[in-house]
Amino acid sequence: MGSSSYSSSLIATALILLLFHLTSFHNNLAAKHTLHHSYSTATRHHHSRRSPPTTTTNPRLQQAYIALQAWKLVIYSDPYNFTSNWVGPSVCNYTGVYCAPFPHNTKITTVAGIDLNSADMAGFLPNELGLLSDLALLHLNSNRFCGLIPQSLSNMTFLFELDLSNNRFVGPFPDVVLSLPTLRYLDLRFNEFEGPLPPQLFSRNFDAIFVNNNRFSSVIPSNLGKSSASVLVFANNNFSGCIPPTISNFADTLEELVLVNTSLLGCLPQEVGFLYKLRLLDISYNDIVGTIPYSFAGLAHLEVLNLGHNMMSGSVHEGICILPSLQNFTFSYNFFCEEEGICGNLSSKGIAYDDRRNCLPEKKLQRSKKECDVVTEHPVDCYSYQCCGGSGGGASGPLAAPPPPSHG
Ligand SMILES: *[C@@H]1O[C@H](CO)[C@@H](O)[C@H](O)[C@H]1NC(C)=O
Ligand SMILES: *[C@@H]1O[C@H](CO)[C@@H](O)[C@H](O)[C@H]1NC(C)=O
Ligand SMILES: *[C@@H]1O[C@H](CO)[C@@H](O)[C@H](O)[C@H]1NC(C)=O
Ligand SMILES: *[C@@H]1O[C@H](CO)[C@@H](O)[C@H](O)[C@H]1NC(C)=O
Ligand SMILES: *[C@@H]1O[C@H](CO)[C@@H](O)[C@H](O)[C@H]1NC(C)=O
Ligand SMILES: *[C@@H]1O[C@H](CO)[C@@H](O)[C@H](O)[C@H]1NC(C)=O
Ligand SMILES: *[C@@H]1O[C@H](CO)[C@@H](O)[C@H](O)[C@H]1NC(C)=O
Repeated sequence: MGSSSYSSSLIATALILLLFHLTSFHNNLAAKHTLHHSYSTATRHHHSRRSPPTTTTNPRLQQAYIALQAWKLVIYSDPYNFTSNWVGPSVCNYTGVYCAPFPHNTKITTVAGIDLNSADMAGFLPNELGLLSDLALLHLNSNRFCGLIPQSLSNMTFLFELDLSNNRFVGPFPDVVLSLPTLRYLDLRFNEFEGPLPPQLFSRNFDAIFVNNNRFSSVIPSNLGKSSASVLVFANNNFSGCIPPTISNFADTLEELVLVNTSLLGCLPQEVGFLYKLRLLDISYNDIVGTIPYSFAGLAHLEVLNLGHNMMSGSVHEGICILPSLQNFTFSYNFFCEEEGICGNLSSKGIAYDDRRNCLPEKKLQRSKKECDVVTEHPVDCYSYQCCGGSGGGASGPLAAPPPPSHG
């Protein structure tokens, strides 16, 4: 018991920190509504455990009891004994379970949060989880849960944060998350999800979308709608199209775009430079060709730019090197052959940089002439380039031909 209350107070602290982090980080939260409030209340309630716990059970807590018992039955390994006190009807006392007043009737206590981060539990998610219909927060980071995400999660109409990261979930993108009306934070990274990402993912009101380190394939949907996300992390998946010009639909909110190692092809569309709020842009380890769009000179808040390990060529133009917030500019392992003005002396501006393995005549640690000639003799014209990946081209999306009709 001693060790489990120790770890639950650790989790409560983590929860508070996370809340802080989220509220300051996602400062554009559309609605600072009661939910947010209700689960911060939950945290506080939990933190001051010494006050008498709410023990009177009610129909909502009874449903939660059924759900949690069903879940406990399909947890096959629980090395830190998170569920050893999941006994009896007082679910608010269970490790990792946080209660709060029900938003529509604050006299009723209900289960508002489940935080089992880093519990290293193995098992799966039973359909009965749908009975936890009042959850605002579900954190299962760093466990060994496997299988599919149950469709019954659609019952969680107050869910605000869903963190399923670092588990062993499989199957296609869990479409059920798209039906959750209040979800703002979606973290699916480090699982085994596969197949395409649904375009609706980007037209929902999410603040942060993490899908990195899965097996998603296909292309980044080209019909990206207006989005409100401030953080998009796609890294380490196997997309394979181009960055669609509709990425500019994120311009009003996007601050971090991480597309590392996603098999992206084609030219960078100039629309990436319209994402004027970007602080971090990392498209390293792809097969991007062509030049850096001049529009990048408008990325006034950009602090970190990583173009490394692509096949880009042409000149590193000065518009980037004089960006007021730039701190770290990596463009190594490309085929750039010229650095304009101050770009050749970034250290004089205190900017960390990496320009190795390009075709820069004045610099050390460059590619051989033979390697460079292959690329520089066949420059890519980004204005006429058509993306063969099928997701809009470098220059303009509407020109992309529709897919051929399929026969049979
Ligand atoms: C979990 O409980 C088992 C049996 O009660 C005990 O042997 C083990 O040491 C406990 N593990 C932890 C991490 O507290
Ligand atoms: C809930 O936990 C507290 C302290 O850990 C304990 O005093 C109380 O009896 C528990 N309530 C029930 C109903 O088990
Ligand atoms: C959804 O939640 C309600 C209670 O709010 C419950 O009666 C119902 O059975 C739940 N549905 C599912 C599919 O779990
Ligand atoms: C890129 O992602 C693949 C899986 O999609 C992985 O096997 C590979 O190690 C990653 N490469 C780098 C450089 O991270
Ligand atoms: C990525 O997808 C392509 C087909 O789109 C496939 O040929 C390739 O093997 C995949 N790569 C990995 C690492 O899964
Ligand atoms: C700059 O970014 C690169 C690539 O992300 C990283 O490896 C390097 O450590 C960073 N340098 C500094 C000084 O932050
Ligand atoms: C880079 O700038 C510094 C300070 O402005 C200067 O001393 C140095 O000579 C410059 N190096 C080159 C290669 O131009």
